[in-house]
Amino acid sequence: MRILIKNGTVATASELFKSDVLIEGEKIALLGADLVSKVGEVDRTIEASGKFVIPGGIDPHTHLDMPFGGTKSADDFETGTRAAAFGGTTCVVDFAIQPAGGALRAGLDEWHRKAEGKACTDYGFHMIVREAGKETLAEMDLLVKEGVPSFKLFTAYPGVFMVDDATLLRALQRSAGNGSLICLHAENGPAIDVLVAEAVANGHTAPKWHALTRPPRLEGEATHRAIVLAEQAGAPIYIVHLTCKEALTALREARGRGVPAMAETCPQYLFLSQENYEEPNFEGAKYVMSPPLRPKGHDEALWQGLRFGDLELVSTDHCPFNFKGDKDLGKSSFAKIPNGAPGIEPRMSLMWDGGVRAGRIDVNRFVEITSTAAAKIFGMFPAKGTIAVGSDADLVVFDPEKEIRWSAKTHHMRVDYNPYENRVTRGAPAQVFSRGNLIVDGEKWLGKAGAGKFVRRGSRQGK
Ligand code: URP
Ligand code: ZN
Ligand code: ZN
Repeated sequence: MRILIKNGTVATASELFKSDVLIEGEKIALLGADLVSKVGEVDRTIEASGKFVIPGGIDPHTHLDMPFGGTKSADDFETGTRAAAFGGTTCVVDFAIQPAGGALRAGLDEWHRKAEGKACTDYGFHMIVREAGKETLAEMDLLVKEGVPSFKLFTAYPGVFMVDDATLLRALQRSAGNGSLICLHAENGPAIDVLVAEAVANGHTAPKWHALTRPPRLEGEATHRAIVLAEQAGAPIYIVHLTCKEALTALREARGRGVPAMAETCPQYLFLSQENYEEPNFEGAKYVMSPPLRPKGHDEALWQGLRFGDLELVSTDHCPFNFKGDKDLGKSSFAKIPNGAPGIEPRMSLMWDGGVRAGRIDVNRFVEITSTAAAKIFGMFPAKGTIAVGSDADLVVFDPEKEIRWSAKTHHMRVDYNPYENRVTRGAPAQVFSRGNLIVDGEKWLGKAGAGKFVRRGSRQGK
């Protein structure tokens, strides 16, 4: 199959130029002006004048089909990657989980079973590590060789995912040797537990107490501590879902002294705020996620972090729970509300509208933070994350004028609410290609469950 995308403006993380794009099979075959007269017959031509042609988005932080908080995230690999594609994301990296008391292998096999035959776009896995005994550390080396070169550890959720500092240090030391990357959920779990118990004992059970018991300083402290442990181990570290000034300061200080500390943030921390927890009729529960939404002011600091390069990229932490049936498990107490929110679909449109259109970032930086940086950091570049001859034809024809009014009634995520209900964004995908297949054409879905392939990622040292 040969497809020609003509008259578009190609945008990568570093370039912006008028060019046609020839797709042959799964790959980008040729770039250049006026290819129509040069390449002979094609099977299909897509007109892209007035539009940008960008690399498919990469979302390196999703939780599809994940058991959590007494329930399960509402999108599986089929519905989640389909919604991602409608939003312009053509590759996700999801978090497989080491079973409590079990092996990494068992968790990884389980996640392969969840994704195979279902995923509509390509996908990779990180592995959540709950302990780092001798066997687990040895398994980490094996996973790196199998294309899973990143591991998530938590200093939050005591009794569920939390590890102690010794475990974190051991995992970091191992990653220094095997070329993998430790991703960290940085909040001080034990301190938060004290505040949660106090709040509940005082009868404070409404959703807003989720935020009040997880203050920014406890994210800042955990971020600083984890980075110091990484420094000690001589390993890089990647902080997931960074939300606040305190954590950003810890990150900046470390980078200033040469520590390879990286971090992502997510749209919810840029577009929503702690005020959302005040929504009536328990609707504040829709925003219960960890770390929580922050008071206004933190959002502008995060935008600055993105603009000046201290924050590498924007992922979603897509972890949808239905308002009815899941979030209401916490009606009696905020501490029982499943943590997580949907976001896999609106990410690219939000970042275009609030970033590029609002003048905070340029088009190249938009491509970098929604695609290229994730491909580089997580070992998929240049197959993914850019537009170059030989790269996968994961492409989006992006219409900078297309408006979307976000609503649970019309979104493609399998969840009964949208955190951005009624927000209008301008800038959205017109067509989306996954390895050369046109999977979204306007409002039409042309993709297939099971067409997505597992991406064996390289380690950061190319091992
Ligand atoms: O609230 C969140 N973020 N839920 C998903 C799990 C995690 O911590 O990333
Ligand atoms: Zn997390
Ligand atoms: Zn997460």
